[in-house]
Amino acid sequence: MTQPRCVITIVTVFPELFENWLKTSLLGRAQESGLVSVNCLRLSDYVAPKQRIDTPMCGPGAGMVLKAPVVAAAIDDAFARYGRGRVIFFTPSGQLLTQRSCQTMAAEYFGEAVMADSTSSSIHLVLVCGRYEGVDCRVIEHYNGIEISIGNYVLMGGDLPAQVFLEGLLRYVPGIVGDAQSVEHDSFTGPFVDFPAYGQPNEWCGKSVPPVLLSGDHARIEQWRTDTALTRTVQEHFSWLRTSALSSALRQAVAKKIPAHYVVLMHDQVLIGRKDPVPGTTSVTTIDVHDIARTSATYGVKKFYVVTPLHDQKELLRVFFEFWHTDQGRNYNENRFDAMRCVQVVNSLAEAEADIAAQHNGQNAIKIATSARPVQGVRSLAFDEQSVAWQSERPIALLFGTGQGMTQELLETCDFVLTPIHGFSAYNHLSVRAAVAIILDRWLGYFEPSR
Ligand SMILES: C[S@@+](CC[C@H](N)C(=O)[O-])C[C@H]1O[C@@H](n2cnc3c(N)ncnc32)[C@H](O)[C@@H]1O
Repeated sequence: MTQPRCVITIVTVFPELFENWLKTSLLGRAQESGLVSVNCLRLSDYVAPKQRIDTPMCGPGAGMVLKAPVVAAAIDDAFARYGRGRVIFFTPSGQLLTQRSCQTMAAEYFGEAVMADSTSSSIHLVLVCGRYEGVDCRVIEHYNGIEISIGNYVLMGGDLPAQVFLEGLLRYVPGIVGDAQSVEHDSFTGPFVDFPAYGQPNEWCGKSVPPVLLSGDHARIEQWRTDTALTRTVQEHFSWLRTSALSSALRQAVAKKIPAHYVVLMHDQVLIGRKDPVPGTTSVTTIDVHDIARTSATYGVKKFYVVTPLHDQKELLRVFFEFWHTDQGRNYNENRFDAMRCVQVVNSLAEAEADIAAQHNGQNAIKIATSARPVQGVRSLAFDEQSVAWQSERPIALLFGTGQGMTQELLETCDFVLTPIHGFSAYNHLSVRAAVAIILDRWLGYFEPSR
């Protein structure tokens, strides 16, 4: 047999945890075929009999660490046997393992050794599994180690993380997973999760395989798969999707799957007065209307309703829109004219709600309130919980208060309230137009990754 192209050494307190796993499944087959060779080194083999592999952590408090000379002796032995290589340490505080990082590391480690040609030299990875409070940190520094975490939780040892890492990484080595296409379609490989999988029988427990999948029409099946993968990703993994690299065509496709959003600016049913606020109405500020319209257009909001029952305020807005809703505004600045088209002045929230329902076959909007303070009696949503509001595919109305914020009575009519926005300072008095901009960005924004 030719020399394996990837040699992996696992340094662990418990090699027996790897025995069955290494013999089983695709990894077993990969080893049989000579693509990979995995070896385990037992840490206790690097101390004299009756010597300990661990030592109390320096400083006060309980906890043991794996001794630096012991771990180093095992790593040096791995280098002596299979050549120098990259040393990977598993630690909860390391770089988070993701599909993207598996792909990048596979390309980096195996790119030349494995993917280009079979005659090039093999790659050696040494995986160090921590136990107790982990490995003495000087070892990591000494070997210029890479620290990997498999998630923001703490396990008892690095053995499962090492297995998780290898399963993720080795899927990208050609020849290990038989069908390269299944890797390409994997969830989180591109911007989308995989489409739902069905198998035989066609009927099971009253549930049928979607007829399109049995149609034999490959183009329609492909379309269905793309569409369902897109819907699932938008509804259930928006945080992932919004940080993925997306072409403008894909961004448009995503936009079509996000439920319609409306912004409602309340100048009624708000609290007024600084000392002992009471329910009342507030005056309209045209700069707010102007800026919120531009922010709404940027984030794809369908309409921005300004709610005021006051005649003089409506008159003020009439004059304002005499400019912005006519050729005067268009000739002055076409982009702002476009944004201003989404603004509608209404007497009440009920009028805005009825208008939204009329645009969605009578479907009522889900009302999401915003507040600078925590609100009692309304279910609170964090800025990564879009899935909770989006799954019903109903339109969404985001309500913003003016004055001292919306009244408790109004807040209690809402389905959800978004968590207040804060910085790390004690000051928390944003203008409503700034709050709308921040909230729309947190809720609907796209965060382009670096390339
Ligand atoms: C009990 S943990 C030590 C936790 C350590 N005190 C901390 O909070 O970072 C023991 C070992 O389990 C492994 N481990 C636990 N959780 C992990 C995770 N999420 N990712 C990678 N390794 C992990 C590491 O090898 C670690 O050294």
